[in-house]
Amino acid sequence: MRKKIALIGGGQIGQILAMLAAQREMGDIVILDIPELENPAKGKALDLMEMAPHGNYDANIIGTSDYKDIAGADVVIITAGKPRQAGMTREDLLAVNLQIIGAVANGVKQYAPKAFCLVVTNPLDAMVYAFYKMTGFPKSQVLGMAGTLDTARWRAFIAMELGVSVVDVAGTVLGGHGPDMVPLPRLTTVGGVPLAEIASKELIDKIVLRTREAGTEIVKLFGKGSAFFSPAWSAIVMAESYLKDKKRVLPACALCEGEYGVNGLFMGVPCLIGAKGLEKIYEIKLTEEENAQLQKTIGSVKKTVGETKL
Ligand code: APR
Repeated sequence: MRKKIALIGGGQIGQILAMLAAQREMGDIVILDIPELENPAKGKALDLMEMAPHGNYDANIIGTSDYKDIAGADVVIITAGKPRQAGMTREDLLAVNLQIIGAVANGVKQYAPKAFCLVVTNPLDAMVYAFYKMTGFPKSQVLGMAGTLDTARWRAFIAMELGVSVVDVAGTVLGGHGPDMVPLPRLTTVGGVPLAEIASKELIDKIVLRTREAGTEIVKLFGKGSAFFSPAWSAIVMAESYLKDKKRVLPACALCEGEYGVNGLFMGVPCLIGAKGLEKIYEIKLTEEENAQLQKTIGSVKKTVGETKL
């Protein structure tokens, strides 16, 4: 029997998620949106069914606004919410998206209580925390998609600056999904060569800054709405690691219970994702400077999560 992927939110990211999940034959797909957008969700699903003959995939893809249709989903990816507009911080979104996450949590809890859930909606650190609290799901079953994207951006910018294949750039980004996230140049390599040995400090600092502001850079270019290709791919990579028990080690927003000195908050940390969901959080010994940066991002995450009052 095919696996089932439920996409809550059929907007920009949701539709790319649906296309990628179909092309990669991850399973049957449900695109769920609000009742006013049920027809566009159905239309996108039908369009993808009609793409299948040339896309070479088999999947049943439907659009709906009824949570009954997500029953028994193996994976739920949540993008439901309002996207960030130019001039808006992720925190400005908090109040409006918190309400939406509440409705989503109810639906998922009722109809897909065993699903591996990935939250994408911003402000991410607060939304994934809220979803976890509202569903009462185990921490292994709930992750936020942020670090995977932040790390993709970090790797992309390094490859662009150095003129090397992005495939050979390995590294990680810790902390919250905001401007004080912590890319780790010390632990970044290009084909095994330490980044610091092939890039100047000035260049590395410039790439760190660009990574921290990468979401905003796209928002400014779009004028309306936020990034969608790269967030969708990042969530797909996480979902696939779960569905195929790949045990990839990906930076993700996970509930920390003592790791990195953090207790009870979701924060970007290196996670092993396999058939049991979040199977392990890896702790890295940080330098004093890295730790100081981490403390700053922890402060921001605490503040945003505090605003949820959950
Ligand atoms: N239930 C289901 N879907 C909802 C709900 C809800 N309660 N409320 C809103 N939606 C839908 C919207 O109707 C819309 O189709 O969520 C979709 C969001 O899509 P977009 O507005 O296109 O936003 P997108 O670019 O996909 O980003 C989604 O991810 O990266 C974050 O900041 C981004 O929070 C935003 C989210």
